[in-house]
Amino acid sequence: MKKTILAVFLMALVCVSAFAQGGSEAAALVGNASKPVVFFNRQPSDPTTGVIDMEVMNWNDKTFYVGFDAAGGGAVQGQLVVDYLASADPAVLDRNGDGVIGYVLCIGDVGHNDSKARTQGVREALGTWTGSTDPGVENTQQGSANVGGTTMPVVELDSRAMTGTDGTTWNANAATDAMGGWATRLGDQIDMVISNNDGMAMGCLQASNYPAGVPIFGYDANADAIEAIGAGTLTGTVSQNVDAQATATLQVIRNLLDGLTGEAAVTAGITEPDQYGNKISADMTYIADTKALLAQNTGVTIDNWTQYTAGSRDQGIKQTDAETKRVLLTIYNSGDNFLSSSYIPALQYYAPLLNIDLTIVQGDGQNESSCLDRFTNLNSFDAYAINMVRTNSGRDYLDRLQY
Ligand code: BGC
Repeated sequence: MKKTILAVFLMALVCVSAFAQGGSEAAALVGNASKPVVFFNRQPSDPTTGVIDMEVMNWNDKTFYVGFDAAGGGAVQGQLVVDYLASADPAVLDRNGDGVIGYVLCIGDVGHNDSKARTQGVREALGTWTGSTDPGVENTQQGSANVGGTTMPVVELDSRAMTGTDGTTWNANAATDAMGGWATRLGDQIDMVISNNDGMAMGCLQASNYPAGVPIFGYDANADAIEAIGAGTLTGTVSQNVDAQATATLQVIRNLLDGLTGEAAVTAGITEPDQYGNKISADMTYIADTKALLAQNTGVTIDNWTQYTAGSRDQGIKQTDAETKRVLLTIYNSGDNFLSSSYIPALQYYAPLLNIDLTIVQGDGQNESSCLDRFTNLNSFDAYAINMVRTNSGRDYLDRLQY
């Protein structure tokens, strides 16, 4: 008898706790959980496979990703290198005259889709691609390229992720060290240096034994890299159109807070003028399957660098009289050169125009907690913009919006 009573009591307990859980899930649909959430620059995805985390993206109907066409950008970077080679003089480029073009590659962050796409784009363009975006010559094969009219073999001599001693990724100091080591060990086998971002490319150029005159390519079109192209020290970079991305991150939030739903949330002010007459001038593409709004990439070389000098903002975005809204925005690493020198200044320029009162909190690029611990006072914000340390930690931020 006692056993039966105990069993009934236990069952009742299970029912009560299940109800309580259901109750809290229902509560998740209101309050902070119902506010707009825009992930940007680091797409919620599996760091190993790169597969987009749709559970996170489907958190609520006001969850979106704003970035740029990463795969397209990899192809643009590869083409930039191929075009350079096509007009190069083999006698100059092939420094040791062994008939082989050797290059070294700075990868960035092996768990980041942007990094993976660039490694793939470069390796595909040069024929060294074997299906892997991992560092290491064992993940490559001999390729070939047209160098000034002659088809020459191309080899990847070495590649590194470029993780700093503190664990941060895309680390420019790691690139300086690696370049110094490569220049010593590989000498004049190195005919070209390719870097998946400008910070690491500028880091390579800092190596005291950088082989003068060896062509070097970056990615991002940061102000210092653009200047370096003008000065002839950097050969090329790719613009991922930071202005379009920063505005779109804020514009999607503006739209959602103005009550726009469905397609209008990703088109107003982006592909067509919004109610205030604003519209991003650059092309943006919306991928409905992944709820991703993407800017396009363009190659930058000595031929067009003057169009990318700092300070040229989008004239399509003007001061609005929209109601002021408060947005909390996280940055994964205060030391990231692209985010700190390009993205944040763009956000700070466009936010006041859209009447968005922006609070930016920044992490250390190593521990998610460095951002999460600052993802607080959530009730006092109207929306959230998130740039995670690890691309698979979106859920940790969303969980905090449940309470
Ligand atoms: C940029 C890198 C940057 C990274 C941060 C990439 O899109 O190209 O320079 O370090 O984003 O997430």
